[in-house]
Amino acid sequence: MAIDLLPSILAADFSRLGEEVQAAERGGGAAIHIDVMDGHFVPNLTFGPALIKAIRPHTRLPFDCHMMVEHPDQYVPPFADAGVNWMSVHYETCPHLHRTLSLIRDYGMEPAVVINPATAVDLLVPILSMVHHVLVMSVNPGFGGQRFIPFTLTKIRKLKELRQNMGLTFRIEVDGGVDRETIASVVDAGADMLVAGSAVFGDGRAEEEARELLTLARKADSAA
Ligand code: DX5
Ligand code: ZN
Repeated sequence: MAIDLLPSILAADFSRLGEEVQAAERGGGAAIHIDVMDGHFVPNLTFGPALIKAIRPHTRLPFDCHMMVEHPDQYVPPFADAGVNWMSVHYETCPHLHRTLSLIRDYGMEPAVVINPATAVDLLVPILSMVHHVLVMSVNPGFGGQRFIPFTLTKIRKLKELRQNMGLTFRIEVDGGVDRETIASVVDAGADMLVAGSAVFGDGRAEEEARELLTLARKADSAA
């Protein structure tokens, strides 16, 4: 499976978001990762559909929306309308996960599921056949710039094994603490969609940083 880098705009310069997503695209980003936080599921607030709509014309890359919100169903119509392509919801927020994933698909987006570091991969078995990707959090969600939690690598390996055993094709995304030091280990474990926030946007050189991370990831992939 191809290895893709998804720059997370949580760490971008918000006063220049249009230019930041363009730099990420030039650097080889495969999609823009957008962290939506509601101040309830996680103790932070970020982007809504109006902001997403405003940056939509600045790039042709797919928008990968990571919903860190309680009651995600209510946000499906406005985010679909804002131009989101892939929407991932947290297992921990969805008592009716099958219904939520179906709703996302009905609105023309690719559905995906996210698990926190403390949530087991096996819980996803019943719905794996209906997701575009599974997002394995490698930090506790809510903030950028946190340290990668090493035991999440075991979960990535387990998910890759499940995918093979079940004959499925969903992709495996990893999010949190992915940088020049940790990127090879997540690729080696089997992740193929790599989210990076501060490692891409942290020093104002998104294009160069994205390109460098992608080179490291592809090197790790060909060595695996
Ligand atoms: C954290 C978010 C991440 C965040 C990652 O809750 O889901 O997408 O942007 O930031 P870094 O790459 O800085 O850990
Ligand atoms: Zn995220």
